[in-house]
Amino acid sequence: MTDLNEKTPASVADGSDGSGSEPLLKVTGLAKHFPITKGVLKRKVGAVQAVDGLTFDVRPGETLGVVGESGCGKSTMGRLVTRLLEPTGGTIEFQGRDITHLSAGRMRPMRRDIQMIFQDPYGSLNPRHTVGGIVGTPFRLQGVKPEGGVKAEVQRLLELVGLNPEHYNRYPHEFSGGQRQRIGIARALALKPKLVVADEPVSALDVSIQAQVVNLLDDLQDELGLTYMIIAHDLSVIRHVSDRIAVMYLGKIVELADRTSLYEAPMHPYTTALMSAVPVPDPRRRGAKSDRILLKGDVPSPISPPTGCRFHTRCWKATQVCKTTEPPLLQLKTGHQVACHHPENGEDQMPGDAPLVADVITVKSAGAEKPSETVVAAETAEPAEAGEAAEVAEARESVAVDKPGAAAEVAEVAEAGESVAAEKPAEAVEPAGAAEAAGSAERADADESAAAAAAAESPDAPTREPAAPAGGDGGEDAAAPSTEAGDTPKK
Ligand SMILES: Nc1ncnc2c1ncn2[C@@H]1O[C@H](COP(=O)(O)OP(=O)(O)OP(=O)(O)O)[C@@H](O)[C@H]1O
Ligand code: SF4
Ligand SMILES: [Mg+2]
Repeated sequence: MTDLNEKTPASVADGSDGSGSEPLLKVTGLAKHFPITKGVLKRKVGAVQAVDGLTFDVRPGETLGVVGESGCGKSTMGRLVTRLLEPTGGTIEFQGRDITHLSAGRMRPMRRDIQMIFQDPYGSLNPRHTVGGIVGTPFRLQGVKPEGGVKAEVQRLLELVGLNPEHYNRYPHEFSGGQRQRIGIARALALKPKLVVADEPVSALDVSIQAQVVNLLDDLQDELGLTYMIIAHDLSVIRHVSDRIAVMYLGKIVELADRTSLYEAPMHPYTTALMSAVPVPDPRRRGAKSDRILLKGDVPSPISPPTGCRFHTRCWKATQVCKTTEPPLLQLKTGHQVACHHPENGEDQMPGDAPLVADVITVKSAGAEKPSETVVAAETAEPAEAGEAAEVAEARESVAVDKPGAAAEVAEVAEAGESVAAEKPAEAVEPAGAAEAAGSAERADADESAAAAAAAESPDAPTREPAAPAGGDGGEDAAAPSTEAGDTPKK
């Protein structure tokens, strides 16, 4: 049996001051492809490329936030790092030791140091075990005998996470969602791990409980010297908890930077779009429209991701090179890594390359002094069509500026552009908070759209009724992680 008190916080144990010279976790080229099988013989017919070539490290004592849209591979990344999944490729080093393909038996001692808080506080607790049994399991599995006995230690942990130690014999169904999440946290912390991977630790909780759990994680980090990898899709939570942030898109890290740098000057167009969806909690801006970038369409399938840059089908800056060449994750500023040929707030890596998309429509809203929204209609056009597409886009831009910014109209005009420039089936544009607009976009056929564009080109075109303003104070972008107003960074 081992004495639990022999363990020390990560920053002390590895001799590092937490400044980042010696990473606690080092991940290189990590990939996980889930096979798709068919038939009785389970013939492999394809693979879900859930994560593909992740490279990052986590420094002792820090919190690395991971953010991205649903399905981009965040949970898979967490499960790979904690070795609950077997990687398809790449390496994982923990404190300098390669743990990529350790067997379950050889991994067991490492489990003391690497723990996970699961996404689902309901599904991750065995309903047939008492809380005492659940939180005490790691001691039994690891053969650890805490001073004073398992029961006393479990009760101490329950108290540490804000639960009543008297509830030791209760079952999970007798607790609320927030309390269950605390049970999961107590279990993860039982063996004083060095690294805790928390997968959406608060997404299943209501806002007031979210704040409690986030503050609890914060306090425990200070108290126990923990290193966190916190996965979330909520930008306000990520901003609050993280020292550095990795932004994921379709199985790749597209940007990795410290919190201030990322929020103040995002460099990847995808991050820029995410940030633009964060409402500004300023009462003076009530009613004003924000400069939001509305990404069109859904994330492509990870079964057959787009070639080149995986974001090129939705990016308003895409050029030919984006379609053919995958941009590597490069450090373009100190501590700021980006995978983009044409980064924002930084030097263009491929200046002058032929644009793929010229379909950005800026709409001037009624009464607004400056363009209020940018709708990204990112349909790719072939090179031969580029000139034509540019002309159409130009026509549309002038139309949009001449007329009030009605979301439905934007959708129609964008669609007209697609039918003229790319001769592809019209797709629905998803204006945030304007379901009606999306509906009308879907209904409109190419003829109507072309008519709308032609009518709009005419200076005498009748002005349509503007739709209700979208966004500005909390409208949700379907393509963006959820956000909350009023968050304040912890540090
Ligand atoms: N066991 C599995 N078998 C096959 N595909 C899987 C498996 N687990 C995940 N996937 C697929 O891998 C991709 C990434 O899934 P993952 O759960 O990592 O996403 P996520 O970013 O955590 O999403 P969310 O924010 O919704 O939790 C998805 O397309 C998912 O369908
Ligand atoms: S590489 Fe090209 S498509 Fe990808 S984010 Fe950058 S500009 Fe957009
Ligand atoms: Mg997940």
